[in-house]
Amino acid sequence: MKRATAYVTAAMLTASAMLAGCARGRELPMTTLSPKSDLAEWIYRLLIEVTLWDTLVFVVVITIFVLGLFVFSTRVGEAAPPSTAESDLKLEVAWTLGPALILLMITIPTIRTIFRSQPNLPPAGSLQIEVVAHQWWWEFHYGDKNQIVTANELHIPTGVPIRLNLRSADVIHSFWVPQLGGKRDVVPGQMNELTFIATIPGMYPGQCAEFCGESHANMRMRVFVETPQQFAEWEKVQVTAPPAAASITDPAAAAGAQAFANSPCTTCHRIDGVSKGYMGPDLTHFGSRTTMAGAIEANNPADVAQWITNPAYVKPGAEMPALGLSGKNLDDLVAYLESLK
Ligand code: CUA
Repeated sequence: MKRATAYVTAAMLTASAMLAGCARGRELPMTTLSPKSDLAEWIYRLLIEVTLWDTLVFVVVITIFVLGLFVFSTRVGEAAPPSTAESDLKLEVAWTLGPALILLMITIPTIRTIFRSQPNLPPAGSLQIEVVAHQWWWEFHYGDKNQIVTANELHIPTGVPIRLNLRSADVIHSFWVPQLGGKRDVVPGQMNELTFIATIPGMYPGQCAEFCGESHANMRMRVFVETPQQFAEWEKVQVTAPPAAASITDPAAAAGAQAFANSPCTTCHRIDGVSKGYMGPDLTHFGSRTTMAGAIEANNPADVAQWITNPAYVKPGAEMPALGLSGKNLDDLVAYLESLK
């Protein structure tokens, strides 16, 4: 008995150490048990409902098992009683119908949730956002003319139906923000949708949930759920073009703007009014983001400089090449990027 207790204690300590390890990561823990949208709430309720039925099955099975072991069994030295087995129609009907009914009680809410969570058409008045999955980062387009293009950080208002139109630029990915809803695969050559209404403001971390290559684990994102007013303010800033190079007052940022305009960065990155690249993240409002590089790094000058110096060190397999910038050139470029609020 003592040994069994020791085993159970050891298992519990290991499990709690592992959970604590997850919580200490760079992101807040991603959880499905704290829903912040209607979709996540439906899935959470379904989980609870199914778990209750499972618990009932568990209790019945374990009770019969324990009775069989300790009550209706022969003791050592006792002769086995003659078999009294005979067919019992009522019992047979009961153990056939019982499990079938429980299965039905699990199937009905499951199918109802599946249909409820996947409306064919976007709900009236919904905010449609195009999500493009890349190896290894997320791109978000707002408005029918792509008035806002951002990366790794999605901003949405509460109380408004959100319709995400998900497509892939390369391989199969999966969009997953646990507190806002279930996973949705992002498949090349196909548009998949995710529809939900966020209910509670906050920052909810997400993660690509389908193995998509070397840096799959580095393909994270953040969703900022804001009040409609906060969202409108964010939107207003994002649709504003950044200041032209000539009107930048900070000398380092001004030098950085020059360096950017003359660098190969422009081939892959767009900055409104400066460059038209589209392979990498749009940097028009780079400085307004809290993270970068697939949301695995904080957006601060030191980390941005490290990223530019050696992208593949931060995110193995990253397509961005090391451009060999250093010293003042690097600092100026970082100052310019951070100034793009
Ligand atoms: Cu994208 Cu895993």
